Amino acid sequence: MPRPIQATIHTEALRHNLARVRAAAPDAKVWGVVKANAYGHGIERVFEGLRGADGFALLDLQEAERVRALGWRGPILLLEGAFEARDLELCSRLNLWHTVHCSEQIDMLATHKTHQPHRVFLKMNSGMNRLGFMPQHYRAAWTRLNALPQVDEISVMTHFSDADGPKGITRQMEVFVEATRDLPGERTVGNSAASLRHSADPLVRGDWVRPGIAVYGAAPDYPEHDAAGWGLQPAMTLSSRIIGVQRLVAGDTVGYGSSFTAEGPLRIGVVACGYADGYPRHCTTGTPVLVDGVRTRLVGRVSMDMVTVDLTGLPDAGMGSDVTLWGRAGNGALLSIDEVAQAGGTLGYELMCALAQRVPVVVAE
Ligand SMILES: Cc1ncc(COP(=O)(O)O)c(C=O)c1O
Repeated sequence: MPRPIQATIHTEALRHNLARVRAAAPDAKVWGVVKANAYGHGIERVFEGLRGADGFALLDLQEAERVRALGWRGPILLLEGAFEARDLELCSRLNLWHTVHCSEQIDMLATHKTHQPHRVFLKMNSGMNRLGFMPQHYRAAWTRLNALPQVDEISVMTHFSDADGPKGITRQMEVFVEATRDLPGERTVGNSAASLRHSADPLVRGDWVRPGIAVYGAAPDYPEHDAAGWGLQPAMTLSSRIIGVQRLVAGDTVGYGSSFTAEGPLRIGVVACGYADGYPRHCTTGTPVLVDGVRTRLVGRVSMDMVTVDLTGLPDAGMGSDVTLWGRAGNGALLSIDEVAQAGGTLGYELMCALAQRVPVVVAE
């Protein structure tokens, strides 16, 4: 029998979440952001659930090839554009739209031989200071791009640093709107947080929104809001089973480093899931977990292949009981990936992306 761990991708949840984002920005087109192998879910596995998107946005050329191999003929946007000149050949061949964020990428385009002019997204650094042209250099970049025979249509884009928090997007929006005021072309500014929190502003909705985390059913701004509060459903469940049971008495300890000491009689279950499966090692005693769909807690340290959970108060639970590390349990109970991530000092984003290769994945409707 294989080790009982499994991840499940919920196709219907992906559809639901996409619809939820559309409802927030009804007049905008939606990029389904599927970079990082669809945030760890698997591009091929999410395709059915997200094929209602207007386009797919990603970074890796190989991932773009995979989307085309699935039969997708619509728009694909490379969010970081070409990394080297020959990437543009693939853009021409597969009709990939690509971001242009630096003058080196314009140089590459200027020497690129193509019969098919490219659709590009010119990125502005409106304050995040990661990729993009500074506002004062943006127009010159646009003019240079516009003069190239290799370029067809230019869209304008930026990315927010604080759409999920109190600082917000006001300053970056002002900078972006001012610097693009009389430029033609489609606009895209909003990730999940901006699309959910700030989409009352038509300029934030723009022509395209670019939700990633929301379509996978996690909250972009946890704990201020949780996924359920945003009307999102988890697209990934990580589940396993109890493969061992121990009865402890006061003073007994659990796991490496004896970090947990029982204060009285305690029944614990050993779960086939550890950090080598992508479960965060920094989760400590108290991290929520569902056993047979009932909430209990992790006790002791996470080890490579196992975690230990408190079964006291769950008299019916034992060998073989279902364990939900995050996602949806068999009885419908939910455990948000954001809550587990927070207990491990990280974000839902990181947990889903870190699902380990060794975990078998099934796709459910
Ligand atoms: C340029 C760009 N757009 C959109 C997204 C999607 O962001 P989120 O997953 O927060 O919605 C990302 C993700 O980092 C990104 O880099």
